Amino acid sequence: MNSLTITRPDDWHLHLRDGDMLAAVVPDTARQFARAIVMPNLDPPVTTTEQAIAYRRRILDVVPGELNFDPLMTLYLTDQTSPDEIGIDPCVHAVKWYPAGATTNSSRGVSDISRCYGVLEKMQQHDVPLLVHGEVTDADVDVFDREQVFIERYLVPVTERFPGLRVVLEHVTTSQGVEFVKASSDRIAATITAHHLLLNRNALFTGGLRPHHYCLPVLKREEHRRALVEAATSGNPKFFLGTDSAPHAKNAKESGCGCAGMYTALAAVELYTEVFEEAGALDRLEAFASFYGADFYGLPRNSDTITLQREAWRVPEVLSLDHAELVPFRAAEMMQWKLAG
Ligand code: NCD
Ligand code: ZN
Repeated sequence: MNSLTITRPDDWHLHLRDGDMLAAVVPDTARQFARAIVMPNLDPPVTTTEQAIAYRRRILDVVPGELNFDPLMTLYLTDQTSPDEIGIDPCVHAVKWYPAGATTNSSRGVSDISRCYGVLEKMQQHDVPLLVHGEVTDADVDVFDREQVFIERYLVPVTERFPGLRVVLEHVTTSQGVEFVKASSDRIAATITAHHLLLNRNALFTGGLRPHHYCLPVLKREEHRRALVEAATSGNPKFFLGTDSAPHAKNAKESGCGCAGMYTALAAVELYTEVFEEAGALDRLEAFASFYGADFYGLPRNSDTITLQREAWRVPEVLSLDHAELVPFRAAEMMQWKLAG
């Protein structure tokens, strides 16, 4: 097969940032995806509906005129979030739970989820999904075990307490995470990134330290990568596409204390296509990329299409932005598929 046409996909987990970076990265996503769930971890974070509406406007201001792109906004949950923030405006599609200190700009995240039970109750009533960064932050828990421990300590109790709440375990990275989602009710789903499908943790150390392969949750062992590929390509509607593309300037990645996040948005759909082809499951790409996420969020599936062509091309070594440089995922290496048009 040398050409593949599928319903236009959506990205159910994306970081767009703000200001110059926002303007630089939005076109890459808008070329491929009709919609994206936009993460609220700006500095300061998007904690109110009013801020979400204003951020949405800033995003739309930098969408190239010829493209249609609908940013789906989220609120950043804090210990102080009021239940009154829920259900105010339809542009807010979900609420994001960052455990305080778990990742980029999460210092104002949740320190004790029991303080948020009122908000979760209201979300359950209004059917607003809770998006979870599923990692504990305790220094005594090994960084590679943080997802599994989070599920046991926090996710199981919360989903039992709020059985009607829709929950997305974002960027699932372990076989334990996959098993938890599979065994849960149909209100529990997960997004899967392209990079966790393509790489295992060896990629952090190939020939030396590789800061551009550092993200959170951190890459895991090969057995976990395989479990993710199995879940993504199985046709189970609980698993859908979420890139977690997370741009950081080159100098912030190549540093004595480098930031977590990979910029995969440059060729996200092409990366997923490689994974599905390698797994012999190209016929299941469309549902994973374009159907299951929309169905979960109760939104219509897109009606237009994109076409992917088998064509080798080299990813640029670096993208020069106005005030910074950005190193894309797979910089200077080859891709096998290319989005047409
Ligand atoms: C994300 C970021 O930089 O905002 N980083 C990452 O490694 N994925 C935050 C996140 O999703 O954890
Ligand atoms: Zn993320």
